[in-house]
Amino acid sequence: MRSLLITIVLCIFSLPGFAQSYTANVVTSEESARCLNCHYERQKKLVESWENSSHARNDVGCYECHKADPFDPAAKKGHFGFNVQLPVTPLRCAECHPREYTSFASSSHALAYETIRNADLASVSPVLFESSCALCHGNELKMFNGKPEPHKWPNHGIGRINTDGSRGNCAACHGHHDYSLANARSAETCGRCHYGKTGPAYEAWKFSKHGNNWNLERVDTDFNRTGLVPSEQHLNFPDCYVCHLAPTNKDAMDSTHNPGERLSWKLATVRSTFRENWGQNRLKMQAVCRSCHGNSQVDLFYRRYDAAVMQINKIAVAAAEKAGASKKAAEGVKAGAITAKLGAAMMGPLQVRDGLDLIDNSKD
Ligand code: HEC
Ligand code: HEC
Ligand code: HEC
Ligand code: HEC
Ligand code: HEC
Ligand code: HEC
Ligand code: HEC
Ligand code: HEC
Repeated sequence: MRSLLITIVLCIFSLPGFAQSYTANVVTSEESARCLNCHYERQKKLVESWENSSHARNDVGCYECHKADPFDPAAKKGHFGFNVQLPVTPLRCAECHPREYTSFASSSHALAYETIRNADLASVSPVLFESSCALCHGNELKMFNGKPEPHKWPNHGIGRINTDGSRGNCAACHGHHDYSLANARSAETCGRCHYGKTGPAYEAWKFSKHGNNWNLERVDTDFNRTGLVPSEQHLNFPDCYVCHLAPTNKDAMDSTHNPGERLSWKLATVRSTFRENWGQNRLKMQAVCRSCHGNSQVDLFYRRYDAAVMQINKIAVAAAEKAGASKKAAEGVKAGAITAKLGAAMMGPLQVRDGLDLIDNSKD
């Protein structure tokens, strides 16, 4: 009965003159042409932003990204003759972008939901959890017959666990349909999550010499270009992506989707320790610095930075001991330690001062 109904609907929509035919100059698979005929009228802006993407120019249409395995609980089965799904997970992107997928999957971004899985708020109020922590860290998406469980959608958190078992959401930085590289490369994209009490990396950068001059100096560079090597551009100041992800060499093979690869300390904690492979990681970050700076600027910065982290460790550990059983005071000390250390790392002097004040005020 149901399939008969679908057949009838399909016949109606295939009648000449009835279907809204989609007439833009974009070549697509037959399947995607069918999606477009119907969805163009329904979501004009969405389709237009896809039309301007390099996906549209390379025959990657609606169906190529939204097609579904009928056994996946995310599948909307029999959608006008197709199995489609609303979520587009990193595994789908991996079919065509295996290198970015592998690198992202090994990052702590992909594990960000694990960090909040057992947060108090998750059990006290699932709605508030889904409206706060989960929007940055991601959630555990549960779907049934193509419909998301209440409150769990939409979620563009960076560590979302998907119904196919994959972790993460490429849309956290790339958005849905324009896939603009300029957007992915902007500091505002990272700053959407990396600000305020959770770790003010954005503010520390913004008020550093680097961030302060970024907007004045970046105008000559076309950030939408693929294979862009910052050190070969007329680019005098770096933003987040330049230091944490971009290639430093000509063949662009040392670009990464794992921002942990160039870090030596674990900063987001009361008492920071070195990471595994910290020496190698540090050399990678310093290679970025050296594309603009001489040795003294880089080596002496790192010497001062190490000393600052060790000093903040000492102050924060002492304050945490004093805070004792007071949860609020302990949280204040931790937030202060993170703020001060991020300030020292990204050269935001005010964050160092604010962080120390926060620690100091958390004692009582
Ligand atoms: C004949 C019209 C038609 C065709 C063809 C069609 N769709 Fe749809 N689509 C709809 C309608 C109507 C809805 C909203 C109702 C619903 O959710 O089923 C929808 C909903 C969706 C949704 C869920 C959107 C949401 O916010 O819940 C997705 C994803 C989707 N379609 C993808 C596709 C893809 C991919 C194709 C091509 C393989 C396709 N559709 C073909 C009409 C169509
Ligand atoms: C390169 C892959 C890709 C292509 C091509 C693509 N989408 Fe999407 N689409 C996504 C991603 C990613 C999301 C976000 C879903 C998520 O969070 O998992 C999304 C979300 C959506 C949504 C829900 C978002 C909203 O604002 O309501 C609709 C509807 C949709 N897509 C329709 C389409 C249609 C129609 C086309 C063809 C013009 C298309 N998509 C092409 C990747 C793609
Ligand atoms: C069916 C294959 C296919 C799928 C699936 C696919 N892509 Fe692509 N993607 C391409 C092709 C082809 C290009 C253009 C050629 C190139 O730059 O490699 C491209 C280009 C890109 C670019 C560069 C855009 C630019 O302006 O140069 C980004 C970013 C991107 N894809 C991200 C994604 C993400 C994220 C997903 C999953 C949501 C995805 N792609 C899914 C094939 C695909
Ligand atoms: C605005 C986005 C955002 C929101 C909302 C958010 N976080 Fe985070 N969180 C982050 C970022 C970014 C980091 C990484 C900080 C760093 O490394 O500098 C982080 C780190 C953490 C960490 C590890 C560091 C630490 O403080 O121990 C924990 C735990 C954490 N978040 C828990 C939570 C909980 C619980 C919530 C909800 C009550 C929450 N977060 C809400 C963005 C967010
Ligand atoms: C933390 C933000 C972030 C996330 C999450 C992210 N990307 Fe990217 N992506 C970027 C940035 C920034 C660039 C530009 C990098 C460069 O120029 O080297 C980029 C570039 C790309 C490119 C183009 C590479 C090129 O040089 O042409 C592809 C393809 C891509 N990403 C795919 C993915 C896929 C697939 C995922 C999910 C598995 C993903 N990205 C998740 C930030 C992100
Ligand atoms: C000049 C290069 C540079 C720029 C630009 C930059 N960072 Fe950093 N970032 C660093 C360095 C150096 C560290 C500390 C590395 C170490 O410990 O070895 C760091 C550390 C971090 C950490 C700490 C991770 C942890 O251990 O908890 C985060 C988060 C971060 N950066 C995010 C950002 C964001 C977001 C932006 C843009 C708003 C940005 N960075 C801009 C160089 C940079
Ligand atoms: C959707 C939110 C979100 C966006 C967008 C985002 N991040 Fe993150 N990032 C996080 C969270 C959450 C964590 C903490 C992960 C954890 O340990 O739970 C994190 C961790 C990090 C770390 C520490 C990595 C490590 O191995 O400890 C760095 C560095 C970082 N992000 C840089 C960036 C940069 C650069 C961008 C932009 C290109 C970016 N992030 C975009 C949410 C985000
Ligand atoms: C794209 C080029 C570029 C990159 C990459 C870069 N810097 Fe800079 N940096 C600059 C410029 C330009 C200045 C401003 C010089 C001046 O006029 O004082 C600057 C200033 C500084 C200052 C002085 C800050 C102040 O407040 O006076 C330090 C320290 C510094 N950079 C360290 C680093 C370190 C460490 C890295 C790598 C983690 C790095 N830079 C990466 C271009 C860059």
